[in-house]
Amino acid sequence: MAATTTTTTKRTVKRTTAKKSPIEILAAEKAKRPEGEEREIEAVPKRKILFAASEATPFIATGGLAEVVGSLSKALAKDPSYDVRVVLPLYSDIRPEHRRKLSFLGNIFVPLSWRNQYCGIFSCEQDGVTFYFLDNEYYFKRPGCYGYYDDGERFAFFSRSVMEILPFIKFYPDVLHCHDWQAALAALYLKTIYCHRPEYQYIRSLFTIHNIEYQGKYSLDILEDLFGISNQYRYLLEYQGCINLMKGAIECSERFSTVSPTYAEEIKSPQYAHGLQDIVRRNAFKLSGILNGIDTVSYDPATDRALFANYDAEHLENKGICKSELQKMLGLPVRNVPVIAMISRLVAHKGLDLVKAVIEDVLRDDVQFVLLGTGDSVYENYFRDLGRRYTGKAATIISFNGDLARKIYSGADIFLMPSRSEPCGLSQMIASRYATVPVVRETGGLYDSIKPYGAGGNGFTFASYNPYDMLYVIREALNVYKNESAWKSLMKKAATTDFSWQYSARQYKKLYDDTLAPKK
Ligand code: GLC
Repeated sequence: MAATTTTTTKRTVKRTTAKKSPIEILAAEKAKRPEGEEREIEAVPKRKILFAASEATPFIATGGLAEVVGSLSKALAKDPSYDVRVVLPLYSDIRPEHRRKLSFLGNIFVPLSWRNQYCGIFSCEQDGVTFYFLDNEYYFKRPGCYGYYDDGERFAFFSRSVMEILPFIKFYPDVLHCHDWQAALAALYLKTIYCHRPEYQYIRSLFTIHNIEYQGKYSLDILEDLFGISNQYRYLLEYQGCINLMKGAIECSERFSTVSPTYAEEIKSPQYAHGLQDIVRRNAFKLSGILNGIDTVSYDPATDRALFANYDAEHLENKGICKSELQKMLGLPVRNVPVIAMISRLVAHKGLDLVKAVIEDVLRDDVQFVLLGTGDSVYENYFRDLGRRYTGKAATIISFNGDLARKIYSGADIFLMPSRSEPCGLSQMIASRYATVPVVRETGGLYDSIKPYGAGGNGFTFASYNPYDMLYVIREALNVYKNESAWKSLMKKAATTDFSWQYSARQYKKLYDDTLAPKK
């Protein structure tokens, strides 16, 4: 079941006898090809990429990380010269419709310090990508993905298993692409333990930060006992008196990246880096920022089955049906007033304090406000209460509901996303694709994806983290909304902005090449 082919072609290159790195093999093969000749190159090994991540759509998702791992791997796999695989934990929350697709490949035992843990290996193909799921009921047969006292141990087991399964699945990637702190240890294990083994010696690692706020910090005394990393490597992980897994992965990966060019700059400063600015700056020579894309097939208002009616950028009439049905569903009067929506985790960095400060001013106008999300109880309570106080004007739904989210993306007019920091943000792109005009703060990926209306852009933006600046641009948006034809062309502009992976996947391929390039 585990795919073992790694070449497209007629002749197989045996890496063991060739004793050349993948990049050298590619260069040699290219050199053999006569200038300008189009024939298929013989025996060029596929570029092998292994993603290690804690979540991926469509199997398990708690946020943007899953969307990116799922849709980037799929976009890369469209290139026949790429062999892309993803490793995930087999959580009990993975639903039966997905579990049914999995085949059991076998099991191994994974060393983790003094422990020796069972690891079952399941697999399936999805959109050209091979997914592996690592099973250990002690670690993963629990509700949800995170939030347990032993998360450090759970993801150490996961990361160690990623390295241990390679001989079993007979797949030694060119690039091990680790995402966020949960997979950071895989890069560390590669550098501290596995790179000395012949089959692993050419594997290079890329570490992608989806949010620098969550670093994986642990007490120093568990380095050997729990993570199984020898004290001689303590210097790689130690930071400000504790183990910092993100810091370790930044230090020891050939390259590291984050999910927008602006965030890549921002995390060099203390305002955004949550203490890691010095590490980021010191390693800035190997840092890139690549803006995420979205899955434009899954998020397509022309075909999305969750919508009350389908439409596209050229035929926006049915968006009116989406709006009136949404209003009905949420108990709001069905009226042609601007609907302002937020879909967000209810946590501080999403800019909810700005919203709290001026939402009642906004509601003084003839508008409706819809909020969908879950998170910190202070915000949940505040918005629940707002919904009660402004019945018929404001609707709050405290839930994480993908189907309702799509109905809101399509039924609203304005999408508000005033984040204090936002590594990339996907919601503004999805809203935009559904012709719902974004109002965003100029930070991270919001700055890179939404440009101001005044400058011919696809939304409205404000710079400083200040509620009155936000209020000002919301009112600007409400003014433009009154001008039907101007609003229609703005909706069209938003809906036709290219947020597909096409461009960004190309940038990742270039980054993989750079990751593999011999050090000068
Ligand atoms: C994290 C970030 C978000 C980003 C997502 C995917 O959730 O907070 O901004 O879009 O990861 O990279």
